[in-house]
Amino acid sequence: MAQTIPSEIKKEIEGLVKELNYHSYLYYVLDAPVMPDAKYDSQYRRLKDLEEKYTYILPDSPTQRVGAPALEKFDKAKHSEPMLSLDNSFSADELKEFDKRNRKLLDTSADIEYTVEPKYDGLAMELTYIDGVLTRASTRGDGLEGEDVTRNIKTIRAVPLKIEGVEKIPAQIDIRGEVFMLSADFEKLNRQREQQGEPLFANPRNAAAGSIRQLNPSITSSRRLFLICYGIGAAKGIAFASHTDLINWLKQARFPVPKGLTRAKDIEEVILAVNRIEAERQSFPFEADGAVVKVNDFGLQQKLGMKTREPRWATAYKFRARQATTIVRDIQSGVGRTGVITPFAVFEPVQIGGVTVSRSTLHNWDEIERKDIRIGDTVVIERAGDVIPHVVRVIVDKRTGNERTVPLPDTCPACGSGVVREDGEVAVRCISLHCPAQVQEKIIHFASRGGMDIEGLGEKNVELFFSHGLIKHFEDIYRLTKKDLLTLPRFAEKSAQNLIDAIEMSRHAVLSRFLYAIGILHIGEYAAKVLARNFQALCDLYYISPEKIIAIKQMGEKIAASVSAFFNDQKNIDLMNSLAELGITITNPDYQQPDEGTKPLKGLTFVITGSMPKPRKDIEALIDENGGHATSSVSKSTDYLVAGDEPGSKMDKAKKLGVAIISFDKLVKMIEEKNKQPRLF
Ligand code: IVH
Repeated sequence: MAQTIPSEIKKEIEGLVKELNYHSYLYYVLDAPVMPDAKYDSQYRRLKDLEEKYTYILPDSPTQRVGAPALEKFDKAKHSEPMLSLDNSFSADELKEFDKRNRKLLDTSADIEYTVEPKYDGLAMELTYIDGVLTRASTRGDGLEGEDVTRNIKTIRAVPLKIEGVEKIPAQIDIRGEVFMLSADFEKLNRQREQQGEPLFANPRNAAAGSIRQLNPSITSSRRLFLICYGIGAAKGIAFASHTDLINWLKQARFPVPKGLTRAKDIEEVILAVNRIEAERQSFPFEADGAVVKVNDFGLQQKLGMKTREPRWATAYKFRARQATTIVRDIQSGVGRTGVITPFAVFEPVQIGGVTVSRSTLHNWDEIERKDIRIGDTVVIERAGDVIPHVVRVIVDKRTGNERTVPLPDTCPACGSGVVREDGEVAVRCISLHCPAQVQEKIIHFASRGGMDIEGLGEKNVELFFSHGLIKHFEDIYRLTKKDLLTLPRFAEKSAQNLIDAIEMSRHAVLSRFLYAIGILHIGEYAAKVLARNFQALCDLYYISPEKIIAIKQMGEKIAASVSAFFNDQKNIDLMNSLAELGITITNPDYQQPDEGTKPLKGLTFVITGSMPKPRKDIEALIDENGGHATSSVSKSTDYLVAGDEPGSKMDKAKKLGVAIISFDKLVKMIEEKNKQPRLF
C-alpha cells in the first residue's frame, strides 16, 4: 500500500524540483549561474533524502538524470517523422543557386526570408515529449529508425526533463537537435584517455557519439555533453508559423537554441551572415563545420517539400577545411604515465584558422609508416574536428631526397632504458619503473582532481620538485617537508604550508579514488569504483588472479589482465607497503557485501514492459539489488517478463518464447517473501 505523504513534504519536494531545474537551466542553458554550487548540492541532497524517505519521485526530478543501470543493448526507436539530412553548399554562388531554385519552385520573384545558424558538429537527436515530459530520446539511425538512448540523454543537464516556461504544453512534440561536446572538454577527455593508454577520439563529434552510444549511462554522465535544438518532427497540439517562431518557443520553453541565429531578408544577407559565422567560429567554444540556411516560413517550407533524403528548403553551407602546408623540422617523442612513447612532429610554425601550430602528435610509429612521414617533408596539416592538428598527407612531389626517416626507438627518450612493443599493440613502451618521465606523469595523475585531489601538486610544481631532486619516486610526495619547499623559488611560508596541508589531507584516502590515482593501466574512475564495490580492502587485491576480476560483471579481459599484472608485481606491492608506512590510510565506503547467494532473484533475468507504478530505472535497480538482472529485450534466456498496461511487442515475443509473464506486484512479492521484509517501496 502506498504510504501517505504529508502535504508539506509533497510541496517541499515539488518546490525543490522546480527550483533545482530552474537553476540547472540558468547554469547549463543560459550559462549564467545564480545559485552557488554548494547551495545547489545541499538542496539536491535534501531532495534525494526526501525522495528516498517518502518514495515520491517526480519524473522531472534532477535525481532521475543519473543512476540507471547498464543495458545489454539499445532498443530500436522508430521516428514518427523521418529525420532528414541536409544538402551542402560550398560557395556564395551555390547559395545563390539554392535561392534561385527556391524562387522558381515557388514561382515568385519576391525575396525569400531565410534564417542562418551555426551547423553544430555532433550527433543528431530526437527528443519526444509527451504531455510535456521527456519520454524518449533517440539517435537518427537510418533516418527512419534509430536507437533509444533516453537514459543517456537524461544525464545531459541542458536537456529539460519537462517542458516549462510556456503556457501551452503540446500533447506531443518531437524536438530535434544536436548533442555535442565543447572543444575544451574534448581535449581534456583525450588527455585523460592518453594517460590511461586508451584510444583517442579523432574529434569532438566522435567523442560525443561515443559518449552517447554507451550502454552504461554512468559513463555518459561522466562526459560533459551539451545539446542544441534546431527543429521539430511530429507535433500534436501545437503549430508554428516559421523557424524563428519555433526557435522563440523553444527558447521560452528553456531549450538551448543555436547561437547567433540570424534572420536574413534575402540571399545577399544570407551570404553576409554565413561569412560572419565563419569568421566568428574561432571564438565558439564548440565545433561548427558550417552554417545552416533555412527558408524561414513554414508554409513555404511545406510547398518546397523534400527530395529523397533532404529537404529542399534548407542547405548546409560548409566552411573551408582548416588546412595549411608546412615543413616537418623534426620528429621527437615523449613518454606518458603508462610508459607509452608517443612520437610528435615539430613543424615550421604555421597559422591555421588563427592558431599557430608548431607541433602535432603522430600517435605511433605505425601511423608514421602508413603516412610515410619523414623529417624535412612538406606536409598538409589540418586541425582535426578543427581542434587538434594532425598531418593529413605528405606532399611527395616536394621531396628533395634529403628527407630522413625516423626509426622505431630502441631506448626510452627520457631515461635511456629499453623499450618493448607487445604483440598486437601499436604502442612502444619504456620498460623502466623508475623512468623519471613516467614517475613525473604518474605523480601529476595521482594528485589530480579525480585522484587524491592534492591542490597545488600540478604539472608545474611536480616538474619543479623533480628538477630540484626533491622527488625521485612516487612515495617521496609524502616525505616532502615545509623546509624543503621553502628552499624553492616559487614557495613562501603560506604557499608551502598550504601544499603540506593538502598532502596531509590526502593521507586519508577512499579506496576507489586511490585505485584510480595510482594509475593502473585501463583503470578509469568508473572501473576503480567497481573494484572498490567488490573488494573490501586494498590488500584483497594483492596477487589477485585475472579470473577473480573477470568474475565481476562489469569487468573485461583487458582490465582483468592489467589489474592482475599490477598487483602481482612485487615492486608495486612494496610501493603500497611504503605508502602505508608513510601513514596513508584507506577506507572503503563503496564496498558491497557479497550476499548474492541468499538474494531472492539470484540468477534470474527480467525484462520490463508496459506502464509501471514506479520509474523503470528504480525497478531495474531493485531487481539488481536483489541479485537479478534486468535487460531490455526478451529472449530465450529471459526468465520473467514484468508486464504493465499496454505491454506492446515484448509481450507477444514473451508469449511466443514461453517466458513467464508476471505483474509488478508479483515481482515485489517474489522479493518480499524471500526477504521477509514488510515493504519495499
Ligand atoms: S536542421 C532536415 N540545423 O547536420 C534536416 N541541422 O548534415 C534538418 N545539424 O542531420 C536539420 N546543426 O544533425 C539543422 N543548426 C542546425 C544543425 C543541423 C547541425 C546537423 C543535423 C543534420 C546534419 C546534416
